[in-house]
Amino acid sequence: MAQSTTVSLSDFDIHSDTGLLPTRPLPPLPTTYASWTKALSDASRVLSLGEDDSKEAIAKRGASERWRSDIRSWPILDTTELTKDVSLLKQAHRHLAFLVHYYIHSIPPCEGTASVCVPAPLAVPLAEVSRLLGMAPVLTYADTVLWNWEFIDPSAPLSAENMHITEVFSGTDDERQFHAVSAATELRGVEAIRIIDDFNHLASPTSPSSITKLNADLARLTSIIEDMSDIIQSVQPVCDPHVFYWQIRPWFCGSDGRGPETPEWVYEGVPRAQQLDLSGPSGGQSTTIHALDAFLAVDHRPRAAKDASSAPTEGFMHRMRRYMPGRHRAFLEYLDDPAVSVRELALQVPQLRDSYDAAVMALKRMRDLHMRVVCRYIVNMSRTHRHIPSGCPVSAMIARMETERGLRGTGGNELSILLKATRDSTKRALLKNSL
Ligand code: HEM
Repeated sequence: MAQSTTVSLSDFDIHSDTGLLPTRPLPPLPTTYASWTKALSDASRVLSLGEDDSKEAIAKRGASERWRSDIRSWPILDTTELTKDVSLLKQAHRHLAFLVHYYIHSIPPCEGTASVCVPAPLAVPLAEVSRLLGMAPVLTYADTVLWNWEFIDPSAPLSAENMHITEVFSGTDDERQFHAVSAATELRGVEAIRIIDDFNHLASPTSPSSITKLNADLARLTSIIEDMSDIIQSVQPVCDPHVFYWQIRPWFCGSDGRGPETPEWVYEGVPRAQQLDLSGPSGGQSTTIHALDAFLAVDHRPRAAKDASSAPTEGFMHRMRRYMPGRHRAFLEYLDDPAVSVRELALQVPQLRDSYDAAVMALKRMRDLHMRVVCRYIVNMSRTHRHIPSGCPVSAMIARMETERGLRGTGGNELSILLKATRDSTKRALLKNSL
């Protein structure tokens, strides 16, 4: 679609004050769906991670199995009542997707199982509401961040300080803070979305007044991206890496989260269940960050895919779009096809080059700093032991032994390759490299 000045942010379910977040918390589900609401409110108290073999977790296993067998005995609820309001569809997605992850990850591991069943009372309505919302039928960034909050003071407007994250698997404040940091990053990005929108509505992008405005907006964008970087770093004092790696992250894993040796998820009663997108939530699903890439013409397609003679490959970032609500993805598709891109304009107009490059550099630095966080929270933690807090001497010894035996080396490598690739494609957008 070519750019049209008649298109507005609201067409993409984006608000000029709150961006990708709704302006108000999602409404509660109608009483027809009380079983979903009740199961979700019980879940974090009743369940532990299935792989947790601590005394407390083992003591919960009976109640945990009852929670799951109740769900298997539920009727498959019709979703028609939810279609009267898209906010109810989102709330249903959030409920069901959390329930699916609670259900699967609370099952104690059973060796030799090739697949694990998501029962039809969860799978069928989740597939249906996901189809209507145009998004993956699994827990996504929208469920854990965009739609997972309530006001602290309902009489005040939405801000990072006035929101409380509602659903967390582990019951820890660390998990709440982890999502709150992402939400704060999104809220800081709202001004960036408005800058992008302003550019799309310029009647004549090459006029002197448009160039002056764009120059100032690119400078503003640079400082917004720097703020977003700082916000991402602010996770470090409020979310403990050991708690994140052992108590929080395992709940997020989707069907393919831990490689081919773990059982794949089968959605009972859902046609073509093998073709569903079931990866689980990731910051890579942040439409705001994808919008920055699209606006600055950062191209994340794997390099071979850009060569028309080779078979098309789908990169991680593109795949992540399928986990976004359909209307947010449509916003990115709209940005992908501008009448004139900021980068093309900056190539033509020397006055814009420095401000464009400064914005791209800020985005590259954000990715460098994010990589450091990932290293601290995942790569380093993959060498620690579940029940021993990081930093203690015994944990350090076990970490050394595990590294020496090479027990947990590979996930970190794959992550580094992925994150280096997004950082490098950002760097490739710099004009000073192409002139
Ligand atoms: C403790 C904090 C964080 C950790 C441990 C973390 C971890 C990760 C990991 C492991 C990936 C690789 C893809 C995946 O496996 O999902 C990733 C990608 C990504 N994360 Fe984070 N993340 C953190 C905070 C954030 C925040 C606050 C944001 C901002 C919204 C964010 C945005 C992204 C983006 C956009 C990607 C895609 C790759 C890229 O654009 O370079 N992350 N993150």
